Amino acid sequence: MPKLWDIVRYDAENCTRCDLYRHATQTVFGEGPPDAEMMFVGEQPGDREDITGHPFVGPAGQIFDRALRQARIDRDAVYVTNAVKHFKFVQRGKRRIHERPDAGEIKACRWWYEQERQLLRPKVTVALGATAARQMLGKVVTIAATRGKAIELAEGGLGWVTIHPSFLLRIPEAERADAEYTAFVADLRGARALLG
Ligand code: URA
Repeated sequence: MPKLWDIVRYDAENCTRCDLYRHATQTVFGEGPPDAEMMFVGEQPGDREDITGHPFVGPAGQIFDRALRQARIDRDAVYVTNAVKHFKFVQRGKRRIHERPDAGEIKACRWWYEQERQLLRPKVTVALGATAARQMLGKVVTIAATRGKAIELAEGGLGWVTIHPSFLLRIPEAERADAEYTAFVADLRGARALLG
């Protein structure tokens, strides 16, 4: 990675812009080639990501990887990051239960999101879920209103909103889960098509 990336990464490792660093194991920064044309933005690292230090390596990451393969997107060629770079959770016994980042945490982490974007300048940015869409668009939006449409981003490039892959893990009915997964893969194909 070029030097500027190293500087930003190092700074992010020591981030105290909000309180989430206090309980998380480490900052989970984005990963991918510095010339990636596509950027994927999740919500925040989960338990596995917090432990390993890499984005999307837990259960949501596995379904995300499968969907990327089906959409013919090479994960090694894209940049994958999160709207918020520390894991937010409540401890229940031995388990760490995910908690949604709040508006202040999303805003505090915008600094890192902007650094990543300035260095990468992606052609297409895919927001996975509502928190990512909020970071990408700088305002609260619903998935229903924004999903699957090319959106011109103020700083350049196109934005694209789809669901968060963890949503698929929470659908109890197999048939609906299959349909939602298929729609997710179609969204990823739609995002890839924006590259031209
Ligand atoms: N969910 C996310 O939003 N990001 C991750 O990195 C893992 C799970």
